[in-house]
Amino acid sequence: MAVKILASGAYIPGIKVSNEELSKRVDTTDEWIRSHTGIGSRHFAEEGMQTSDLGLAAAKAALNRAGRSAEELDLIIVATATPDYFGFPSTACIIQDKLGAVNAAAFDVTAGCTGFIYCLDVATSMLEANKLGLAKRKTALVIGAETLSRITDWSDRGSCVLFGDGAAAFVMEQQEGSGSSVLHSWLRSKGSGAKSLYLSQPARTSTFERSGDYSKPPSIVMDGQSVYMFAVKAITDIIDALLQESGFKLGDFRWIVPHQANARIVQAAAKRFGIEEERMYLNIEEFANTSAASIPIAINEMAEKGLLKKGDLIMSMGFGAGLTYGGVIIRW
Ligand code: COA
Repeated sequence: MAVKILASGAYIPGIKVSNEELSKRVDTTDEWIRSHTGIGSRHFAEEGMQTSDLGLAAAKAALNRAGRSAEELDLIIVATATPDYFGFPSTACIIQDKLGAVNAAAFDVTAGCTGFIYCLDVATSMLEANKLGLAKRKTALVIGAETLSRITDWSDRGSCVLFGDGAAAFVMEQQEGSGSSVLHSWLRSKGSGAKSLYLSQPARTSTFERSGDYSKPPSIVMDGQSVYMFAVKAITDIIDALLQESGFKLGDFRWIVPHQANARIVQAAAKRFGIEEERMYLNIEEFANTSAASIPIAINEMAEKGLLKKGDLIMSMGFGAGLTYGGVIIRW
């Protein structure tokens, strides 16, 4: 049996904000943002929309392309750092209900910008574990969805220019035959770096007394330089580990699809490994950093542009809050 990626779909929210437009609200310039990050614009969720709405639209697009109905889904996993509700219920359950996926288990994965990579491994493993048919899980929907604009600290120009909203989804299915789509994965974490990128409001530390300032909504707190250094090392470690464990050579990969955090981080890694720019897929200029949605948005865009041919080897890697990092090798 093999776990295949049947199709992808995305939802890009309609409010596009260029660097010039942002610089009317924030003390920044197009030149600074472009030269430091490669970002030219970002898309923000429409008024009233939540992460589940973006995820739902992406899910419908992917299911439509895969030719599968919501009732056929056995599993829904959502990677997000911006759930509709912090804690519970999971955004996956909200999407499960909105879709009418009455036969599906549903849960969220919290792994920051590495969330979709973690999900690909979890979904593949859960479907593969069903070889004996005990759990009867055959078809999974894996979604990366974010509304980072809702947790952005607009008074922090070092972080607020980096993020955007969006969602994308894969439909994955266990089928007869051999050769799964996700051939290898390598996942790691570095919790000692948690405070380099976190949400400003921790849980209360007192049972009956309120501690901390709960009057402000939670927002992103980031130490840009330490995240930058972590990201450069993470990409290097992921590429080294995936090559060593899989036996593939870098030249075997048609595409390298990194998490779209900062073009400079990715270009530094590409230079170090001698990866030609045309094999490294970057769309950060249009979408900025959409956290767990960035990798599936990129892969979906590549599929829509006809850049992915059957059999192409893709290496994708993520890194982000947690800190978490990891990569997958996909045979398209
Ligand atoms: N516009 C204009 N100037 C800005 C600015 C902005 N948006 N943000 C910061 N600056 C200024 C700073 O105030 C500072 O000015 P000063 O020298 O007068 O004090 C100067 O630019 C340099 O700031 P610094 O924070 O050292 O910039 P940097 O070169 O480290 O770049 C990041 C900042 C955020 C782009 C970079 O650290 C980064 O990309 N880090 C990784 C972030 C990331 O990817 N996070 C998500 C991970 S999934």
